[in-house]
Amino acid sequence: MIKKVGVIGAGTMGTGIVQVLAQNNYETLLCDRDIDIAKRSLERIASIFDRLISKDRMTIENKDAALARISTVNSLDQLKDCDLVIEAATENMNVKKTIMSDVSKICKDNTILATNTSSLSITELSQAVEYPENLIGIHFFNPVPLMQLVELIKGLSTSKEVFEKSLNFINSINKKPVEVEEAPGFVVNRILIPMINEAIGVYADGVASKEDIDLSMKLGANHPLGPLALADLIGLDVCLAIMEVLHEEFGEDKYRPHPLLKKMVRGNYLGRKTKQGFYNY
Ligand SMILES: NC(=O)c1ccc[n+]([C@@H]2O[C@H](COP(=O)([O-])OP(=O)(O)OC[C@H]3O[C@@H](n4cnc5c(N)ncnc54)[C@H](O)[C@@H]3O)[C@@H](O)[C@H]2O)c1
Repeated sequence: MIKKVGVIGAGTMGTGIVQVLAQNNYETLLCDRDIDIAKRSLERIASIFDRLISKDRMTIENKDAALARISTVNSLDQLKDCDLVIEAATENMNVKKTIMSDVSKICKDNTILATNTSSLSITELSQAVEYPENLIGIHFFNPVPLMQLVELIKGLSTSKEVFEKSLNFINSINKKPVEVEEAPGFVVNRILIPMINEAIGVYADGVASKEDIDLSMKLGANHPLGPLALADLIGLDVCLAIMEVLHEEFGEDKYRPHPLLKKMVRGNYLGRKTKQGFYNY
């Protein structure tokens, strides 16, 4: 039975995950190597709750109760009693291997170790931990409080029991899990990111303006957001990193990152986070 959850990395994803867990009655420890980042993340969650209260979608009592379930820490040692640890740190295999290796030595033998990676191999990461069968991919989508889907990704060694417990956990926080066998990009990113890469190619070829490319996919394919606006939201650096993983893993030309995507990342045109991408913010 999962009661206490540790979340490592208090960035965009860690903050959203902790908010959802606290709202669903889980005792949650938010861990970042920089305690000020963890504290700022908690302040962000409190201000989101205030906004919900002002819209009559949350009570003050529920806000206080949810915030009381969250502790901020900066040492992995403090996660030792957790039943589940979700790693949402920087997307880098070595960073994740070091974190997971340390956590697996600190936590109980049956603690579930989950990674929120967008593209890295669950099987490779599992080789860094004491019990590879305890490691699974639990891939949330951004923004976590709004996005329903969670990909549950099984590595080669992930046990059936760990998968079942993770499935029940995702249902308990009112998200929709899908079962995924590990493969590059999993399901969503393998389909979505090459589509964005193709839209960048269409734009680079001068086939249509960026506004008309986005309008075409909104009105012609019923997408809520056009692909170039979506690339700005995801972050062009993230899109490039995922294309590079797909290209390297499959070795197929159809996954070649478009040169314009590479050029924009080199120029720090990363989208919303740098206030410039295909659009200005
Ligand atoms: N941003 C997205 O849209 C999105 C969507 C799905 C999955 N993901 C994945 O989630 C993970 C986190 O992404 P993000 O966008 O929140 O990143 P982010 O850069 O916003 O946050 C990462 C956090 O991890 C912390 N961190 C780094 N090393 C650490 C360590 N050793 N110990 C503790 N904390 C450490 C950093 O201080 C930072 O606060 C990545 O693996 C990413 O691929 C991101």
